Amino acid sequence: MAIKWSSELELGIPVIDSQHHRIVEYINMLSHAQQSKSRAELFNVLDELVDYALSHFAFEENLMEESGYPFTNAHKKVHRLFARRVANFRQRAKAGDDITVELLHVLKAWLINHIKCDDRDYADAVKANLLEATKRAKARKGSWFNRLFG
Ligand SMILES: [Fe+2]
Repeated sequence: MAIKWSSELELGIPVIDSQHHRIVEYINMLSHAQQSKSRAELFNVLDELVDYALSHFAFEENLMEESGYPFTNAHKKVHRLFARRVANFRQRAKAGDDITVELLHVLKAWLINHIKCDDRDYADAVKANLLEATKRAKARKGSWFNRLFG
């Protein structure tokens, strides 16, 4: 069963929303790999999903830190725990366990909950900071522009 992307999963931060959307696509690809019963495909998708999720976490953590979000450290811990949990699944799968149904269940439940609760919690701080940063960048551009063309 695939996850359907919906506006309920959107934080209103386009760059993060598109990354979350991509993760949902990976989970759906994993679900497809599970149905096709191809272990090679399964491991491929799982590796890509883990890679992508980890870089997404790092990106998110940077934005949180930049914005001064007070629970950045707690959020980072949640990311680390998740990474450890998935690594565990991966090890079990390598050892021959059939973990896909359980893994898919965990991934779906975890992601939806994480986006709707944990990520939503940082959204206001990050949005406000991005807005400020855009203004500063525009102001800088303005002065650079004025110097050259004013
Ligand atoms: Fe997160």
